[in-house]
Amino acid sequence: MSPFLLTRTLPENTTAALRADVLRGLTRTPKTLPPKWFYDAYGSELFEQITRLPDYYPARAERALLAAHAADIAAETGARTLVDLGSGSSGKTRLLLDAMPDLHTYVPVDVSESALIQAGHALAEQRPALNIHALSADFTTGLALPGAPGPRLVAFLGGTIGNLLPPERAALMSSVRSLLSPGDALLLGTDLVKDERRLIAAYDDTGGVTAAFNKNLLTVLNRELGADFDPGAFDHKVRWDETHEWIEMRLRSSTAQTVKIPPLDLTVDFTAGEEIRTEVSAKFRRDGVRRELAGAGLELRHWWTAGHMYALTLAAPVAPPPAQTSLPPRADRP
Ligand code: AVJ
Repeated sequence: MSPFLLTRTLPENTTAALRADVLRGLTRTPKTLPPKWFYDAYGSELFEQITRLPDYYPARAERALLAAHAADIAAETGARTLVDLGSGSSGKTRLLLDAMPDLHTYVPVDVSESALIQAGHALAEQRPALNIHALSADFTTGLALPGAPGPRLVAFLGGTIGNLLPPERAALMSSVRSLLSPGDALLLGTDLVKDERRLIAAYDDTGGVTAAFNKNLLTVLNRELGADFDPGAFDHKVRWDETHEWIEMRLRSSTAQTVKIPPLDLTVDFTAGEEIRTEVSAKFRRDGVRRELAGAGLELRHWWTAGHMYALTLAAPVAPPPAQTSLPPRADRP
């Protein structure tokens, strides 16, 4: 059996981070909650179900792209270490791992410890020579990677980058850039701007799986903070924001109601129809991706798309500018 190591870098007290997010999000107008709290064990399972829904095309599109290009990615990067941000069940990464038989170390990073343990143990059985160093961590609050041999490939798949707002994306890109040395690479999965009907359908399935996923956030708050949300008194809403080119998921209070969150000493009033924004899922264009990468000192090297639905980008650190010291001193120049 290969070594499987789990390191927790989530704050000792995850509920402290949850409390801070809930206090900030539910005392402002409009109300918001960050999507990372969807992913308790049940939420992670619901997300796995979402990826199998006929209308949720991103998961299948990404899988097809990885199947088609994993060998190129492996050859071009020559990666010995694969860092997998937001690895979840590692299902999508399996195609990459299969194309990298000589990989030395796999570093799955996720906020869901249950997903890390399950996926880590399954992989350890199949790849006895692979070192697996799982990190239970929130990659939006900084990253400390275990020592592992280069070249490194950092994969940020699933379109998860779309859950971050533009300034958060810029911060994340810079922190990824700081992990990369010359010869390392970033593999980024992004959902693309497309017609509104398809986008809405992907987030509002008729079977109600996405609605259950959305409302599970309230169940997490009830369990972790002793809140008294009635998930049945909120409706799942999806909207396409054409200006920002992002999907928003919201929970709309069906009546005027009051929710208590005792550890925060907080009473939250909802008017009938008032909404909590629970997720932003940004959709991208090639030019925007190229620009955001460039802003962090990364250069777009490959752009692969599946029917213009979804894109995989391979990027690398921009070569540092030639050293100025090679110029002769000013006085010696004509
Ligand atoms: C895992 C963040 C990429 O935004 O499409 C799926 C999460 N939310 N259905 C996405 C999600 C609703 C998903 N990501």
